Amino acid sequence: MFIESFKVESPNVKYFSDRIESVYDYQTTELVHENRDGSYQWVVRPKSVRYEFKTDTHVPKLGMMLVGWGGNNGSTLTTGIIANREGISWVTKDKVQQANYFGSLTQASTIRVGSFNGEEIYAPFKSLLPMVNPDDIVFGGWDISNMNLADSMARAKVLDIDLQKQLRPYMESMVPLPGIYDPDFIAANQESRANNVIKGTKKEQVEQIIKDIREFKEKTKVDKVVVLWTANTERYSDVIIGLNDTMENLLGSLEKNEHEISPSTLFAIACIMENVPFINGSPQNTFVPGLIDLAIKRNTLIGGDDFKSGQTKMKSVLVDFLVGAGIKPTSIVSYNHLGNNDGMNLSAPQTFRSKEISKSNVVDDMVSSNGILYEPGEHPDHVIVIKYVPYVGDNKRAMDEYTSEIFMGGKSTIVLHNTCEDSLLAAPIILDLVLLAELSTRIQLKAEGEDNFQSFHPVATILSYLTKAPLVPPGTPVVNALSKQRAMLENILRACIGLAPENNMILEYK
Ligand code: NAI
Repeated sequence: MFIESFKVESPNVKYFSDRIESVYDYQTTELVHENRDGSYQWVVRPKSVRYEFKTDTHVPKLGMMLVGWGGNNGSTLTTGIIANREGISWVTKDKVQQANYFGSLTQASTIRVGSFNGEEIYAPFKSLLPMVNPDDIVFGGWDISNMNLADSMARAKVLDIDLQKQLRPYMESMVPLPGIYDPDFIAANQESRANNVIKGTKKEQVEQIIKDIREFKEKTKVDKVVVLWTANTERYSDVIIGLNDTMENLLGSLEKNEHEISPSTLFAIACIMENVPFINGSPQNTFVPGLIDLAIKRNTLIGGDDFKSGQTKMKSVLVDFLVGAGIKPTSIVSYNHLGNNDGMNLSAPQTFRSKEISKSNVVDDMVSSNGILYEPGEHPDHVIVIKYVPYVGDNKRAMDEYTSEIFMGGKSTIVLHNTCEDSLLAAPIILDLVLLAELSTRIQLKAEGEDNFQSFHPVATILSYLTKAPLVPPGTPVVNALSKQRAMLENILRACIGLAPENNMILEYK
């Protein structure tokens, strides 16, 4: 059964007019490796830490500024939100289609609330805590192409033509602000697009972005802005000691107009300076060590990298299942071909390399979780191929072959073939990233023994469900398994309203 909303009644939660306060006992374990009676043993001690959470329930008027606004993802997300807001339907060859948010965790998924008369009760994910309603988002952004959003939507060739016709009037007046174009960081084949660029030194470019954000806030009267990079994949920046390894060196390099600071890093610097959350939806290492350092020192949310939309999402489910079932994946081969501008940009070796790196590490945590199947350091063969095939447009093909060793020397090969519009997978994820980033800036927590409430660590691991290569604070384990990432997010939001984590034990029926 489905319910729209619920309220928690518990001594652990208090609802105020402007906030929710909760108390949560975090049950975890403490491990020690001790010499007992002459031999080393692992000892596990259950541990309970009391946390207090405080969530600001004032939902701000939110501005979403996209870098790469006129690209396939940017234009598709903008159209999707407007179509939902305006309740638009359109005729396809199959039926009359209503706008929806399928594929969005916050808008189209549910959480289990409990059992009632022997039936499981579910509520919308977004009913957990007050979140921005997508209808109220104000759009803005930058692009190195000056095309308005109506023409960008047509160029993207993603949406049905009847829908495009209805949306055109809403989008013609949306024109991206000039972007930062540096031909050394994206493929040479993007040059003809770059007719809308900020001139000047890197420092002047950062200053312009800061000015753009301030003017956008002023003009639209939004309370908060979140900036998200959905522009082209850049090549990796070289991480060089003295150049971008610390905050001081990165800012010093900005003053010196050093070449090796990428446009995405420049956007991120501007956002951090303005205390505006910045999310990177592409695979490059925007977050060089100096930038992470800057975000931590200025306590501004950063999150990334690379939207986890299709092939990798499947991988982080399938390999988790296989390894969790005691089956040993030994070879994972992933082919993609796509014909959109992202595909064209990725046809250059340096930008492809960024994608290859981001796609490669996604099974590491699952493999290292099972020392029965894998020797230390052993890893499945894992190969990624991406080809540009213009004809298929945004309808990306992803073909995967998983070969595993099973019982008694047997081999099992699973082959997957997925075809679908890449941007229709990415757009709801962008929405979730923006909404959850905004929400997480309203949550504060305090562990027992601590004096003051503090925000989450500026490196937003809470967003990792939505990213291929989750950015984590230095020294933090990376979790790629999709179900664990979802549980982490859901359980943290549950803790904010004093609910225990979903433990799936269903003891009441045992
Ligand atoms: P796209 O090529 O259609 O759009 C990118 C836009 O960014 C273009 O309009 C381009 O003119 C603009 N741009 C490039 N450099 C810029 C800069 N420095 N400043 C401002 N604008 C700039 O690509 P698409 O399909 O929208 O993908 C965007 C990014 O998202 C790519 O990096 C892609 O790898 C990444 N991504 C996409 C996924 C998907 O499922 N669609 C999944 C994971 C990541």
